[in-house]
Amino acid sequence: MASSQPDVLLAIESSCDETAAAVIDRDLNVRSNVVSSQSQLHARFGGVVPEIASRAHVERILPVIDEALRRASVGLSDLSAIAVATQPGLVGSLLVGLTAAKTLALVMNLPLVPVNHIEGHIYACRMAAGPDVFPAIGLVVSGGHTNLYHCPTPLDFHPLGSTIDDAAGEAFDKVAHILGLPYPGGPSVEAAARHGNPQAIKFPRAFVHDPRIAFSFSGLKTAVLYAVRGTPGSQRPVPPLDQRRIADVAASFQEAVVDVLVAKCDLAMQQQGIRSLCVGGGVAANGRLRERLQDLQGRLVIAPQELCTDNAAMASIAWELLDAGRSAELDIDAVPGLVRHA
Ligand code: KG4
Ligand code: ZN
Repeated sequence: MASSQPDVLLAIESSCDETAAAVIDRDLNVRSNVVSSQSQLHARFGGVVPEIASRAHVERILPVIDEALRRASVGLSDLSAIAVATQPGLVGSLLVGLTAAKTLALVMNLPLVPVNHIEGHIYACRMAAGPDVFPAIGLVVSGGHTNLYHCPTPLDFHPLGSTIDDAAGEAFDKVAHILGLPYPGGPSVEAAARHGNPQAIKFPRAFVHDPRIAFSFSGLKTAVLYAVRGTPGSQRPVPPLDQRRIADVAASFQEAVVDVLVAKCDLAMQQQGIRSLCVGGGVAANGRLRERLQDLQGRLVIAPQELCTDNAAMASIAWELLDAGRSAELDIDAVPGLVRHA
């Protein structure tokens, strides 16, 4: 194919249960953004099964890459670089995307740019709002992470604090399971909550008045379980789990999560003296969270809905990494855990 669009890169994402590829140009225009979700495969297990995820990535990665190139009307010879999420995530899942990326980089003699998936979630805000979003406080709130960062530049992510147990998205998924709502839990809890009273049940808000930047959602999840099934050893009857009760539990749970997230964003902004906030990750798709974050003083940039949940377009941070000389050799490995910056 003739090289009509020279400065485009191919980004690949396979860190969890979405197989994704995107073509992005240097101006961060998303030429294509293909996401093949595996949620149907994992739904009956109520969570992601790593072995199933890896196998599905193997089946889908090449068709997804082909489709991303086709939709962007570019060929492999038009690409300037290959970007790939190498951490954090499920190691078997990461390896599928990384192997595809390495192969393309080798065959086409292109630079390979490793991307941190979590940093990509925050960078999705930069894609939406332009270069002046930094310095900012960055909140990543997803199925695997609930982290706050100080981000002085697009490439600096200094951890301020995170969850000590479950991630917020994980809590949504578990609460959906308790309430008998479909997986993934975030969207179904949000939908149920629309018909409920957020004040119906006073659920705990861990660390909300604590000066530390920390989150905990495990106790909240247990409180939901007790509200639905009764507290062990207690004779007090629990209300029947009808539609009204499901809606009230969902709304009250969602409000507790949102209260804590908003309070900690505010605290981090105050402590760092930064009034710019970037929010990304799957839970940032939540309408109530988006609404409540508007109450904060300062500049708020929430990733667009389609760039909140996992996708490859957010790996366009690779352009800045490339310019900073941060491409990698082909022996680079996948890193399942979150490696902290020095
Ligand atoms: O960022 P993401 O796609 O994957 C990870 O990196 O974890 O986030 C997925 C998480 C799931 O836990 C899902 O239930 C949650 O994001 N989520 C939501 C919503 N949409 C997705 N949580 C609350 N409200 C939503 N609308
Ligand atoms: Zn993610």
